[in-house]
Amino acid sequence: MANITVIGAQWGDEGKGKIVDWLAAEADVVVRFQGGHNAGHTLTIGEKVYKLHLLPSGIIRPGKVSVIGNGVVIDPWALMSEIEGIRAQGIEITPDNLLISEQCPLILPLHASLDKAMEEARGSAKIGTTGRGIGPAYEDKIGRRAIRMCDLAHPDTLRDKLEKLALHSNALRRGLGAPAINVEEFVMSLTEMAGRLSPFIGPSWRVLQDAKAQNERILFEGAQGVMLDVDHGTYPFVTSSNTVAASAASGAGIGPRELGFVLGITKAYTTRVGSGPFPTELTDDVGETLGRIGHEFGTSTGRKRRCGWFDAVQVRQAVTVAGIDGIALMKIDVMDTLAEVKICTGYTYNGQTYDYLPASADIQEKLVPIYETMPGWQSPLRGVRTFADLPEKAKAYIRRIEELIGVSAVVISTSPERDDTIRVKEFF
Ligand code: IMP
Repeated sequence: MANITVIGAQWGDEGKGKIVDWLAAEADVVVRFQGGHNAGHTLTIGEKVYKLHLLPSGIIRPGKVSVIGNGVVIDPWALMSEIEGIRAQGIEITPDNLLISEQCPLILPLHASLDKAMEEARGSAKIGTTGRGIGPAYEDKIGRRAIRMCDLAHPDTLRDKLEKLALHSNALRRGLGAPAINVEEFVMSLTEMAGRLSPFIGPSWRVLQDAKAQNERILFEGAQGVMLDVDHGTYPFVTSSNTVAASAASGAGIGPRELGFVLGITKAYTTRVGSGPFPTELTDDVGETLGRIGHEFGTSTGRKRRCGWFDAVQVRQAVTVAGIDGIALMKIDVMDTLAEVKICTGYTYNGQTYDYLPASADIQEKLVPIYETMPGWQSPLRGVRTFADLPEKAKAYIRRIEELIGVSAVVISTSPERDDTIRVKEFF
C-alpha cells in the first residue's frame, strides 16, 4: 500500500497539521521523524482545537498508531504535559496508540537554558529560535554525549552519562555566564520521568517493519519546512535538523523507497517566524492584512509571523532539493480581499539575476524580488470544496504557481476545517 511523506515547503507553519490529520483517515501509522516541540501543529475539528507539538497528528484519530521516531529530540516533561493536555480534551493515549523510539535523544532543561544564553550572546545576529533547546540537544546527539530514551531504564549508568554531558555543557556555560548543572537534580527528575514514559518506549523501527509486512499505510509527518533545513535552508537562520523528505527514512528507521508520495505543504503566500532572510517579505498594509486574516501567530511561541508574497523561486528550489511530488496549497482564502496578487519569479542582486536562492545569507538578505502581478479574485473562497467552484482568477493564480514550481497542487485548502479540503488529483 502506498505511503506518504508530508513536509513543509517554505519556512514552516504551512498547515501540515491539518493535512496530516486529513490524510490520517486513510493511514494506519503516523510517524514524526525530526524536530521536537519547536513544532506546532494546530488541528481544528468541529468545535475543538488541538495544539500538538511532539505528538504525531494521527493521535487525534481513533484506531491509528502514532510513532515518535528516532530523529525527534524529546523534552520528556513537555511530552508528558502534552499527553496529559490532549487526554484532558478526551483523546485516549495509551501504549497501544503511541510508541516512542528508544533511540530518541532527550532535551533537558540545560538545553533550553543554553539555547537562550546562546541567543543572547548572538546579540543582533540572533536566530530567533523557539528557545526550546532544539539546537543544543542536536549538538549533543551529534557530539555522541546525548541522554537517550533507552538510558532512562538504567539509573545506574544514567548518572555517569549525565556527568559526561555536564562536563561538556558546564565548559560552555562558564563561557556564557550561565550557572553550572546540578547532576543529582537531573538524576532524580529523570528517574521519576522514566516511570511515566517507559510504557511508551520501544524499538519503533520494528512497528514500521511490521506495518510494511502487513501492507499497512504509513504517513510520515515532517515539522518545520525546507527553508529551515540545516543544509538546504537559509543557514544559519535554520533549525538544527534536516527537514527534507529524505530525513523521514533516517529519522524513522526505514528505507528510502518506503517514503511514497512526497507532499509539500505550501501556503498560497509566505510566512516566516524568527529572524533571517525573507526576500518577498511585506512590511506594508498587505503584509498586515495577510497576518491579520491568516491569524499568523506561532502555535509554539505566540510570536507574530512575518508575511510576504508567494515566492515561486524558493518553492521550486524546495521541490527540487526535497523531492516534492506535489503540493497542498494552503490558506488561499486568506488572500480573498486583495485587489492584486504577486508571485516572485526571480531575484536581482548587484546587477545579476538569480533563478535560484543563492546559499549565502548575506546575499539572500539583499535580494530584490522580481514580481509577476495578477488580478485578485475578490470573492470568498472560504469553505469552497471543489476546484470547479473556485473563481477563474483564483484558478489562474494556482495554475501559474504550478507552472513556476514544476509540480501540481494536488490538494487545495480553503479553511482550517478538516472538510474544507479539495482533492484536486488522486495521489495517495
Ligand atoms: P529552533 O528550531 O527553535 O532552533 O529555531 C530555529 C529557527 O526555526 C527559528 O527561526 C524558529 O522560528 C524556526 N522554527 C522552528 N520550529 C518552527 C516551526 O515549527 N515553525 C516555524 N518556524 C520554526
